Amino acid sequence: MSAPDLEKLRAAQWRNWNEVSGPKWVAYAALMERRLAPVDEALLAAARPRPGEAVLEIGTGSGATTEAVLAKIGPEGRLLGVDISAPLLERARARLLPLHHPGLELRQANAETDPLPEAAFDLVLSRFGVMFFADPVVAFRRFRSALRPAGRLVFAAWAGLAENPHWERPFAIARAHLGEPTPRPPRAPGPLAFSDPAYVEEILARAGFQAISVTPLPLTLGEGSLDEEVELALRFGPSGALVEEKRPDPATFERLQRAMREALGRDAKPPRATILIVRAAP
Ligand SMILES: C[S@@+](CC[C@H](N)C(=O)[O-])C[C@H]1O[C@@H](n2cnc3c(N)ncnc32)[C@H](O)[C@@H]1O
Repeated sequence: MSAPDLEKLRAAQWRNWNEVSGPKWVAYAALMERRLAPVDEALLAAARPRPGEAVLEIGTGSGATTEAVLAKIGPEGRLLGVDISAPLLERARARLLPLHHPGLELRQANAETDPLPEAAFDLVLSRFGVMFFADPVVAFRRFRSALRPAGRLVFAAWAGLAENPHWERPFAIARAHLGEPTPRPPRAPGPLAFSDPAYVEEILARAGFQAISVTPLPLTLGEGSLDEEVELALRFGPSGALVEEKRPDPATFERLQRAMREALGRDAKPPRATILIVRAAP
């Protein structure tokens, strides 16, 4: 991809996380945190942050995972949290600064391109924050440089749509009402960009990582009320992106909302998902 095309993708992600998805995540932060809490259990079991360790967290979002990691590394540990989104960082600060953790730094930056400390961390960690880079190999090379020789990279990404009925089902309903999305390359930056394990392995290998493992893990997400499930379907994931893209008129939106409510009300609960737990050594 040419340099101007990469810059265009980066600018689009900056806009998205500062002006579209970021404010949306903030507005629904409590619900999203409840929804994704089961992911932290799996992620932290794989990453095992230990007292006194230095951690680089990519895409801290509203800081839920950050808080869990701080509890593990204790007051002797250090955590640098990097996120591109000013509104999400503001929310993270409101949550985390009252903890008065001496080793916490939160920084607004593009983790793909902005400077990071070299050979400074025992663990580079992310919950769903590494699928949005214009050039993932560039980003992961830098994460590798940020790790100490005996360090580790551990992150969670989403598996494919077919393994994520909590997204697939609302997406089918949204497509039936709004039409198909504009085709985009399957690996374009976005929540599903890393859903092919072979592609993730290839990126990490090209970035110089070793001992790479990508483990699919089925789990149950935190469940919302029916109202909350409908809100999530209309605003997040592939169905939310389609609503954002098509910007339906109020009557169409209302029809879609009704159809979502009926379908999700009939569906088996709780919401089932599959994530990929990715591990690698520098
Ligand atoms: C799907 S959200 C996940 C947030 C949080 N980790 C969680 O699980 O709740 C993705 C996060 O990555 C951040 N992000 C996206 N691209 C980024 C980049 N290039 N550099 C730093 N952060 C980025 C977004 O602002 C957002 O907070």
